[in-house]
Amino acid sequence: MTETVAIIGAAGRLGSALAQRIGMTGRRLVLYDLRTERLRECLHTLLSEHPEICAEVADSARDAGWEADIVIPAVPYDMQMEVACAIRDVVTRKIVVSVANPFAEPLDAVVSPTSAAEELARVLPHALIVKAFNTVSAADILQPDANGNRFDCFVAGNDDDAVATVCRLVNDVGLNPVVVGGLATSRILEGMTLLLMRVAQRCRWSDRVGWKILVPPAHTAQERRFQDVQL
Ligand SMILES: NC(=O)c1ccc[n+]([C@@H]2O[C@H](COP(=O)([O-])OP(=O)(O)OC[C@H]3O[C@@H](n4cnc5c(N)ncnc54)[C@H](OP(=O)(O)O)[C@@H]3O)[C@@H](O)[C@H]2O)c1
Repeated sequence: MTETVAIIGAAGRLGSALAQRIGMTGRRLVLYDLRTERLRECLHTLLSEHPEICAEVADSARDAGWEADIVIPAVPYDMQMEVACAIRDVVTRKIVVSVANPFAEPLDAVVSPTSAAEELARVLPHALIVKAFNTVSAADILQPDANGNRFDCFVAGNDDDAVATVCRLVNDVGLNPVVVGGLATSRILEGMTLLLMRVAQRCRWSDRVGWKILVPPAHTAQERRFQDVQL
């Protein structure tokens, strides 16, 4: 059966990039954003460039979550609790992907006492929370190939099947999934994004930067994959 992915915040930078790339994998999309008009424009552009994509707009975050197998709240950290409360009763045993990076301007600290992902898990105790996509930029997602290498995309979660499902999604959008541990590893992943953004800012790099763990070429393709997940 075709997987349905809900993206909440689908008119934003990350949400619209994910909509394009996930839509191109053949998965069905249900999109929602507070900016209704901008979302309709995004969808119009997306479907005119990729008429094969199956996508529709939902009337609320809850409706989007109700329709989906996987929910991605692609909203700023300070809005994730509002979205979590809106979808709470429709995401039991569903995968909710935490993409949020809890930073405040200027980029000098992670402001969550734990991690954005663990905060989400506390409000959605019956959902399967998986951290992913937070260490890659929207630009990386749109162009996952970097000089012949796929950017790494770190995936963390406590449920092995949910982690495997998200790894397949990450792989299908063109990034290299790297399983890094349980959900608490999100604390490290969120800090890694802060580090990357600060270095990129200081060096005046574009947002086309990302992580890549280098493995000596002597390793087999299987060893280079970092995980046993069946993609
Ligand atoms: N941008 C990236 O490259 C990137 C990379 C990795 C992770 N992330 C994470 O992804 C999340 C989104 O970042 P972004 O840069 O894409 O932000 P963005 O461009 O500001 O997009 C967020 C979108 O979500 C909408 N929104 C806000 N609250 C909402 C709600 N309650 N319900 C529905 N839609 C809502 C916003 O509308 P309004 O503008 O009207 O508020 C906006 O259209 C953040 O947590 C960020 O840390 C971003």
